Amino acid sequence: MSLNTATNRRLITTKATLWFLVGAALVIAAVRYALGLGRTTALTDTTPWGMWIGFDVLSGVALGAGGFVLAATVYVFGRERYHGVVRAAVLTAFLGYIGVILGLVVDLGRPWNLWAIFISQNLHSPLFEVATCVVLYTTVLALEFAPVGLERFSWAQPIVRGLKKAVVPLVILGIALSTLHQSSLGSLFLLTEARMHPLWYSPLQTPLFLISAVALGLAMVTLEGMITSWLYKREGEWSLFKGLTRAATFVLPIYLVIRLVDLGVRGSLGYAVDGSWFAVLFWTELAMCVFIPVLLLTLPRTRGRNWAIGWSALLMVSGFILHRANVGGISHMAVTGEAYVPALTELVISMGLVSGLALVFLFFIEKLNVWEEPPAEADKFDRIAFDPVNQHYIGAPWFGGGQRAAVALIAGAVVGLIMVEAQVAERSVNQPSPVEAPRNVLLTRTADIAGPGHVFELASLGTGGATAAAAELQRGLLIDSGGAGRYVLFEHGAHQDSLGGQQSCVLCHHRNVPLDLATSCSHCHTDMYEPNDTFSHAGHETALGGRESCAKCHLESDAAKTRIAAKACDDCHRPAAGTRVKASPDARIGVAPGYVDAMHGLCLDCHRQQDATLAENAYLGQCATCHRHGFDDKEELIRWSREVARAGGAGDGTKAMNR
Ligand code: HEC
Ligand code: HEC
Ligand code: HEC
Ligand code: HEC
Ligand code: HEC
Ligand code: HEC
Repeated sequence: MSLNTATNRRLITTKATLWFLVGAALVIAAVRYALGLGRTTALTDTTPWGMWIGFDVLSGVALGAGGFVLAATVYVFGRERYHGVVRAAVLTAFLGYIGVILGLVVDLGRPWNLWAIFISQNLHSPLFEVATCVVLYTTVLALEFAPVGLERFSWAQPIVRGLKKAVVPLVILGIALSTLHQSSLGSLFLLTEARMHPLWYSPLQTPLFLISAVALGLAMVTLEGMITSWLYKREGEWSLFKGLTRAATFVLPIYLVIRLVDLGVRGSLGYAVDGSWFAVLFWTELAMCVFIPVLLLTLPRTRGRNWAIGWSALLMVSGFILHRANVGGISHMAVTGEAYVPALTELVISMGLVSGLALVFLFFIEKLNVWEEPPAEADKFDRIAFDPVNQHYIGAPWFGGGQRAAVALIAGAVVGLIMVEAQVAERSVNQPSPVEAPRNVLLTRTADIAGPGHVFELASLGTGGATAAAAELQRGLLIDSGGAGRYVLFEHGAHQDSLGGQQSCVLCHHRNVPLDLATSCSHCHTDMYEPNDTFSHAGHETALGGRESCAKCHLESDAAKTRIAAKACDDCHRPAAGTRVKASPDARIGVAPGYVDAMHGLCLDCHRQQDATLAENAYLGQCATCHRHGFDDKEELIRWSREVARAGGAGDGTKAMNR
């Protein structure tokens, strides 16, 4: 085919940009696999679904919508006129679905476990349906498109003939799978009502996704046709585009009516006028998807104009992608309260993925008969001229496509690496997780009927004052230092009693601030997970007498002034004698390990030793002995506290504590 690709600068620049983004994305994807999501994304436990789901997957599926809509138009409704763009639409759909799969592979990780979906089927899971449809539909699309790739090889002619005969069944299968899948993506979000802003949740999510996919598909084919004809300097098929976008104007009002009536019936329409950001987002989305395109395509003044068709296609596509992103993530922020902004590296992966697919698309366009009519060459004369007199080229000779791609790819990879480095530098300072001090509480202690040991409950929680009085009461600590609600109830008093009463403290409180009998562990182990240097030189100088203090620690004035040479911390911070907390050999002096390590280092260590004496009835070292409590969240704790206060339970508690 004679596409003028060698001197078309538009195409050359576009391709170089695409290669550049691919290079950057490849490096970042490699880092994501080597070092994990934390290094490459802004995802958190609260926002586990980010840009890669909201954009890559959902808009990849959106690209796919063009395939089934056009296939249906031509093969089912017999509009032969559109035959010319079917192949391109099917190719886009195919690449879109490959994009979905690649997006998921980068996001989920562990692609080597993908097969497990089909072995351990969970037939009730929408995700299972989504996965099955994606795989089957991608296969069908590959078969639909295969003749285009194979028709140039003589050996493949029988296969091509077979596939061409099977085209109608394949297309019908494809449409069925695709509609199933477009709508099952909607049903997936039926499950997430609790996480979504009411303007985007709908029990009618399934039909809404399907109907919008039809409009989106029509707009997508139009947009893609416009872009490629611009790129290859080829006359756009405006009469087809006009027909496609016109069809969309019939679908969009249906979508709008269902959406608004549904919100109205469920009494959620009020959210659309409450002046919040989400209300603005809602109307912006509807304006992009429905209002502006429908106006542009129907008003007599603009109807049929190329620019109006172009803009409405662009608005519809971006509007519906926004809709998918809203359903899949943005609207969740209203509930989670966590603002998620994708990391730059996350963004680049998405762009690189789309770029890679675009390059494959362009490759197919240039090398295969994707267009039944090859475009006419528009700029034949833009050739590099050779000056025979002084033997120089006139005009900058572009070097070959292969070299150009390689340079762009490498440049992209370098930039990708820099981005990852920047990201790592920004994040390697781990998010601090400060520790909260333990709280004094009253516990009820009842024998555990299910096994050895006991069940502990907060006396003031749930059980209420009356039952609490009947059960055995204990003084205890509620240790929820991470503040995440995963608390441990610790019978501080009972442990003291059984470990030697007033003498016991030193067993666990291995280091104290001078004068303290027992300093709270949270005073020094100040981060949940990260070690923390507890030593402050300036603080000690002040506390020990300023300029007079030096000799108290730097015992020999000519010795090196290091931690090892200075007076040992424990010499002043209470005797190490009798404590069961032993610093591990690799511990750095004065650097306290994270709080969780401190707790496990103390509690788990002793419990495991005790277990050895209990032999087969051993239970003290099991995780559940200490970890059996949790508030769903802080709000639940606050709610309970209020309830207890109202019931007078807290009063009992304080009285008992002050004994
Ligand atoms: C010096 C040893 C030692 C240390 C340190 C220790 N424990 Fe214990 N703990 C015991 C022994 C012994 C028992 C069993 C007492 C009994 O059943 O009367 C026990 C019992 C318990 C129980 C009750 C189990 C049940 O079902 O009856 C809990 C809960 C518990 N410990 C939590 C902790 C936590 C949390 C820590 C750390 C903050 C800790 N313990 C530190 C020795 C220790
Ligand atoms: C079995 C180990 C153990 C023994 C024995 C022990 N403690 Fe504790 N103590 C702890 C743990 C664990 C905490 C909670 C962790 C923290 O403070 O961050 C704690 C917390 C404290 C706190 C701060 C929390 C609060 O109540 O406000 C004080 C004060 C305290 N202990 C005093 C003592 C005294 C006094 C003794 C001796 C009579 C003693 N402890 C014996 C393990 C022990
Ligand atoms: C005054 C500060 C301070 C307080 C209070 C304190 N620690 Fe430590 N802890 C340290 C420091 C510093 C280390 C590091 C080892 C060293 O320098 O001795 C350490 C080490 C430990 C270790 C050893 C971990 C390892 O692998 O090296 C455990 C376990 C531990 N602390 C538990 C506790 C518990 C439990 C409490 C409360 C009952 C507590 N600590 C209170 C400062 C403190
Ligand atoms: C509580 C004990 C203590 C006292 C008091 C003290 N030092 Fe130090 N000093 C240390 C320790 C421990 C180090 C090692 C610091 C480190 O590793 O961060 C140190 C380090 C130093 C250093 C090395 C510089 C550095 O930052 O690495 C100098 C110099 C020094 N001390 C001078 C003094 C002088 C002067 C005074 C009196 C005004 C004094 N120190 C008081 C414990 C003490
Ligand atoms: C010469 C005695 C002495 C030595 C040695 C010493 N300290 Fe201290 N330390 C003190 C005194 C005194 C205070 C102040 C107590 C106060 O503020 O009430 C203190 C306070 C502290 C505190 C509590 C600060 C606060 O914010 O409450 C920590 C933590 C601490 N020291 C850690 C260390 C470490 C780690 C070392 C060893 C590298 C060390 N100390 C060596 C005497 C000493
Ligand atoms: C003897 C008591 C005890 C046993 C047994 C125990 N833990 Fe813990 N664990 C604690 C305490 C106390 C904390 C600190 C809780 C807090 O501050 O919220 C903790 C914290 C944790 C945390 C951090 C929680 C958070 O909020 O981030 C994890 C994770 C954890 N434990 C896992 C385990 C596992 C897994 C086991 C079994 C192998 C286990 N623990 C056994 C006492 C215990």
